[in-house]
Amino acid sequence: MGWRIPVARPDLGVGEQEAVSAVVARGWITQGPEVKAFETEFARFCGGRDAVATNSGTAALHVALLALDVEAGDEVITTPLSCIASANPVLFQGARPVFVDIEPRTYNIDVAQIEKRITGRTKAILPVHLFGHPVDLDPLLAIAAAHGVPVIEDCSQAAGAEYRGRPVGALARCGIFSLYANKIITSAEGGMIVTDDDELADKMRAIRNFGQRPGEHFVHAYLGGNYKTTDLHAALGRVQLRKAEAYIERRRLRRDALTRRLAGLTGLIAALPVEESYARAVPFSYPILFRTIALRERAEAALHAASIETRPFFSLINDQAPYRALGFDTADTPVAADVFPRGLYVSASPDLTDADLDLIADTLAEAARQA
Ligand SMILES: Cc1ncc(COP(=O)(O)O)c(C=O)c1O
Repeated sequence: MGWRIPVARPDLGVGEQEAVSAVVARGWITQGPEVKAFETEFARFCGGRDAVATNSGTAALHVALLALDVEAGDEVITTPLSCIASANPVLFQGARPVFVDIEPRTYNIDVAQIEKRITGRTKAILPVHLFGHPVDLDPLLAIAAAHGVPVIEDCSQAAGAEYRGRPVGALARCGIFSLYANKIITSAEGGMIVTDDDELADKMRAIRNFGQRPGEHFVHAYLGGNYKTTDLHAALGRVQLRKAEAYIERRRLRRDALTRRLAGLTGLIAALPVEESYARAVPFSYPILFRTIALRERAEAALHAASIETRPFFSLINDQAPYRALGFDTADTPVAADVFPRGLYVSASPDLTDADLDLIADTLAEAARQA
């Protein structure tokens, strides 16, 4: 269905077209010089030493877990409220996610509840910067350091976000990104891992390529897969990266403009996006928390009737079939279980016009009047 206001719309222009065409004309289309240049530029964008490109964010996370030797029997502490891809690679490894509940302002993992869930089996902590709002990282990193546990930031929705003035992605052992078409910047499909650890980066480069270190053909130091991206994707991503700052500024302006329009609808809406004092958020999308499930359903129907696409707050991961089958239960994360059915998100795309924002606000105001 062609929505008047889809939840995301990639901004693709002549620059992207020409960059991809130039790769085709050069004749080297798989991982090559464009990927290398993209990695260098992406690392700089995040203030990290090194970046390793992959063919998706899911692949980036799987490579990171493999490189950190997460295996069967290990535990990885993470959030239950996210795209399911932020937890699935833990299961791929036969390890067990430990879902710590969320805090209700940013919908991110509740850092205050992490320490009591650390055990002798905890192999990593995996916070997700949901909706582009950074997790409160300093206390989380302090807990992780005290227990000698590495932290992987999932920055898939948060490219360019800052925590206390520093870009996310290079603030922990490593950070992973998705470059899917709905993200802050895109390479169609794609992912990236950022790290300051040169040895870890080398291991990740090998793991993404069947476990071969560069130059060591058919010698496999590690168990690896084919998680490589291509010069076609990297060329597209490099053009997007040059526009990242402009996209982010525009997203922030669009978020603020929509918040001004919705601020009075307090009978309908329980919460609009916040920005904590430690954060420069990158509005990946615009989450709205309704007062009740019935009000969320009413608002959703009204938005759809006005051709405004919505999505739930991703998934309650511990409620999904593969996790239920392993005995997970949403009763263990009551805040997430309460928030999830009352939430939906609309677009925070840089290309939203004032008329688009008016339509979203007028539609919700009408739903509020009828409630
Ligand atoms: C938080 C989060 N983690 C991981 C992923 C996986 O990224 P990809 O779709 O590039 O595999 C996504 C999104 O798609 C995501 O939103």
